[in-house]
Amino acid sequence: MQEKRIITKILNKSEAPMGRTPAIVLIDPKYAHNVGMVVRLASCYGLGQVWFTGERVSLDISFRKRLPREERMKGYADVEIINYDYPFEQFADAVPVAVEVRKSSEPLHSFEHPQNAVYVFGPEDGSVSKPHINHCHRFVVIPTKHCLNLATAVSTILWDRQYKGWLGGVEGELTTPGEYEGRGLTEFPDDIVW
Ligand SMILES: C[S@@+](CC[C@H](N)C(=O)[O-])C[C@H]1O[C@@H](n2cnc3c(N)ncnc32)[C@H](O)[C@@H]1O
Repeated sequence: MQEKRIITKILNKSEAPMGRTPAIVLIDPKYAHNVGMVVRLASCYGLGQVWFTGERVSLDISFRKRLPREERMKGYADVEIINYDYPFEQFADAVPVAVEVRKSSEPLHSFEHPQNAVYVFGPEDGSVSKPHINHCHRFVVIPTKHCLNLATAVSTILWDRQYKGWLGGVEGELTTPGEYEGRGLTEFPDDIVW
């Protein structure tokens, strides 16, 4: 049976873990399912930590406010989920990257991902707030006609990181869900018509 995880807000710095890059920081996410979807993405792309700030999401999974299915699915236990308001203090050597629609942001197309990036995203109903922006060293925007939802923005950044890493030969072995989870690959019938 899947072990239950209780994620309570960390108030004392002494209880906060050290940051491990690459990582994700969500500023004051609105809903538990936003965090859940990002945890799923972090697991898919091999990131070990998702940090989030604020009070709006409580991840006491043993009580009513359980994370949605995403986070509870098998395999995502490899992602550490940390609710702490001062995430940047926990990274010894990191490049915080604000993923945000700002005038000065670099377009993702030409953005070179720092190896030790911490990607910072705003909430569904806002943006990365000033005090957190001030911690960021780099700024990137995903060129789109409208704002993406949070999970799609995270997904685009992580895919782009993996793909550019592959182009540059720095990323490790590529895998697919079937291979990684050991459930084999689906074969199309020979007579399939496209
Ligand atoms: C749904 S958006 C927030 C809504 C947005 N502030 C607005 O004006 O409608 C949530 C977060 O996703 C990220 N995001 C969404 N679309 C983006 C884009 N095109 N480029 C960079 N970041 C984006 C940002 O971090 C943003 O704070």
